[in-house]
Amino acid sequence: MMSSYSVTKPFVSVYVLAMVALQFPHSVLSLNHTNAYLNHICIKGEGTVKGNSYEEAVKGVIDHMSTYLGYGFVNGAGSDGPTKIYAKIQCRPDASESICRSCITTALPEIRRKCPNNKGRIIWYDNCLLDISSIYTLGKIDYRYIFYMYNSKDVSSNKMAFNKNTKALLYELKEKATSKKEIPYRRDYLYAAGEESLGTTKVYAMVQCTKDLSAKNCSVCLDWIMAKLPKCCNGKQGGRVLSPSCNFRYELYPFVKT
Ligand SMILES: *[C@@H]1O[C@H](CO)[C@@H](O)[C@H](O)[C@H]1NC(C)=O
Ligand SMILES: *[C@@H]1O[C@H](CO)[C@@H](O)[C@H](O)[C@H]1NC(C)=O
Repeated sequence: MMSSYSVTKPFVSVYVLAMVALQFPHSVLSLNHTNAYLNHICIKGEGTVKGNSYEEAVKGVIDHMSTYLGYGFVNGAGSDGPTKIYAKIQCRPDASESICRSCITTALPEIRRKCPNNKGRIIWYDNCLLDISSIYTLGKIDYRYIFYMYNSKDVSSNKMAFNKNTKALLYELKEKATSKKEIPYRRDYLYAAGEESLGTTKVYAMVQCTKDLSAKNCSVCLDWIMAKLPKCCNGKQGGRVLSPSCNFRYELYPFVKT
């Protein structure tokens, strides 16, 4: 089900491993499509480049990858002289192909502006992740970065019970997301969303890994970020932990349509 693809352009060779799109049974859309910018990182350790040819090469790789967004995940590679370019695009599985594409169209110039000259750069939005690196990381968990976001308001109910309930929901979703071994080339591979009630409080959550990970590594990645739950989100009305390889989010309102 995987097709490989390559083209040669003046500045760049693009090798895109595209995942073939299957029709998703029910079209899933986010309730509010505010595609918020979340964070970015300029990877100092990967060094810098000068001049426009690197940027043109990156754009060539991403533009090419953007024609394969039907699955919500695509990885590609290219080079600018001796500098390798490895890129990953992961969209939220409930974002349509056009929402995914428009997210990447926003992300690419934005990360260029934020990290001029950096070879390695990653940017997170609500609907997509764009990861550009000179190091090959496909299939590997990227432990280098992690960040939290939370709603500053506390829940009005029993905090301890709320934390316990939220944690249980996230672990249940992790199991769900990583048990889909048999269908690796679906949009919802390594992804799960769900909800749970505790008294009158309803918690909505989702977990997600980039689709290059194995189910096992997705599980390892989610364990790593979920262990940060008490640190980030103790009794908070909403919270997220994000890394380049996996993320979770919970809110007291529905943010994904199932
Ligand atoms: C999304 O919609 C819900 C209600 O459906 C609302 O409570 C929430 O604040 C909205 N979130 C954003 C980021 O606009
Ligand atoms: C899992 O991740 C590790 C480190 O991130 C990597 O070395 C390994 O190859 C991955 N395993 C699989 C089966 O993808």
